Amino acid sequence: MAGRRDHVCVGVIGLGMGRAHLAGYAKSPRCTVAAICDTDAERLRQVGEEFHVEESRRFTSAEALIVAAKSRRAGIDAVSVVLPNVLHAPVSIRALRAGLHVLCEKPLAMTVRQAERMVAEARKARRTLAINLSFRFTPQSRALKEIADSGRLGRIYYARTRWMRERGMPGFGGWFGTKRLSGGGPVIDLGVHRMDLAMWLMGNPKPVSVSAATYDLIGSRVAREQAKPFDVEDLGAAFVRFEGGASLVLEASWAGYIGKREDMVTEILGDRGGIVQRNLGEGYEFEARVHGEEGGALVETVVRQRLEPAPSPYEDFVDALVERREPLAPAVHGLQVQRVLDGIYRSAALGREVRLKG
Ligand SMILES: NC(=O)c1ccc[n+]([C@@H]2O[C@H](COP(=O)([O-])OP(=O)(O)OC[C@H]3O[C@@H](n4cnc5c(N)ncnc54)[C@H](O)[C@@H]3O)[C@@H](O)[C@H]2O)c1
Repeated sequence: MAGRRDHVCVGVIGLGMGRAHLAGYAKSPRCTVAAICDTDAERLRQVGEEFHVEESRRFTSAEALIVAAKSRRAGIDAVSVVLPNVLHAPVSIRALRAGLHVLCEKPLAMTVRQAERMVAEARKARRTLAINLSFRFTPQSRALKEIADSGRLGRIYYARTRWMRERGMPGFGGWFGTKRLSGGGPVIDLGVHRMDLAMWLMGNPKPVSVSAATYDLIGSRVAREQAKPFDVEDLGAAFVRFEGGASLVLEASWAGYIGKREDMVTEILGDRGGIVQRNLGEGYEFEARVHGEEGGALVETVVRQRLEPAPSPYEDFVDALVERREPLAPAVHGLQVQRVLDGIYRSAALGREVRLKG
């Protein structure tokens, strides 16, 4: 790639969360950051200096970066697309068509239609399209996946997964709370992570129907008070049925009087055991326990640490390209989650259960 098969040159488009991508790529010995892009010239300059990206490799438009990559001037193999959700599909598709591999931020897109097009374009271009479902990548989540896949839980039939925030609407008044730019509120922003984690631990069953309700009471009131735009939900709850009979309950909020700053729980129940992962101290550290029966007693095991190191999403993307294998979070999994997200918004709007296609 870019001349060497054991090395990948990446560009990062969008430098908010994109800074985490840059820090992640910097840890991979198999990767060089070859370009960065942001329409905000000051942010571009600051991040360029922080990550030592030379001026000729800083772009103020995604198109210019992709054109430079295509002409092989910049020697870029792959890009991270870390832009507002509305740009995930068009910029990823443009990059794939230019022959670049893509690591796209979550959610994969704003709609199933867009997500399907992205997956189809990647297949056509024979390029890797990965999605940053970052909660899969923690060492603890990797350990839980191995436990779930080992069969120790027996038949997995039910899951409950939630990310509820008492108050925390990202960039209030900006693109996150504007439906045409984001596709939705906490369901598509936070719910996507915990729903993916649950579905992944369940073995990616096919979702077939959704019944959901969404609310915007607090967000709309605060928006009126502050004269800011806000036309997405601030809380969503959903019941999802899967092929084979398993089901899942999802809850996600940016606002709600729950008495905790952040409450995250994922429970996976099988007929022989269960997994419970929850956040500690209302923050972003997690504890996980595996429950079951042994010697005629109910027992629990604390999952402390995975023995093998777990690569970050950025290292895994680079490794997958060099090793010519699937990334840990391929776009097709993002598409499956997107089907549920679409179903949630459709069901909430119609006030009844909806069937999912695909
Ligand atoms: N995986 C995670 O845990 C995680 C965490 C945070 C954000 N995200 C995702 O990352 C994406 C970006 O979110 P964010 O928080 O960084 O948003 P942000 O608004 O902070 O940053 C977006 C950046 O993109 C730039 N930008 C906007 N339009 C552009 C264009 N046309 N070309 C080039 N640059 C452009 C903006 O100037 C800004 O610097 C979203 O999809 C979000 O859901 C994921």
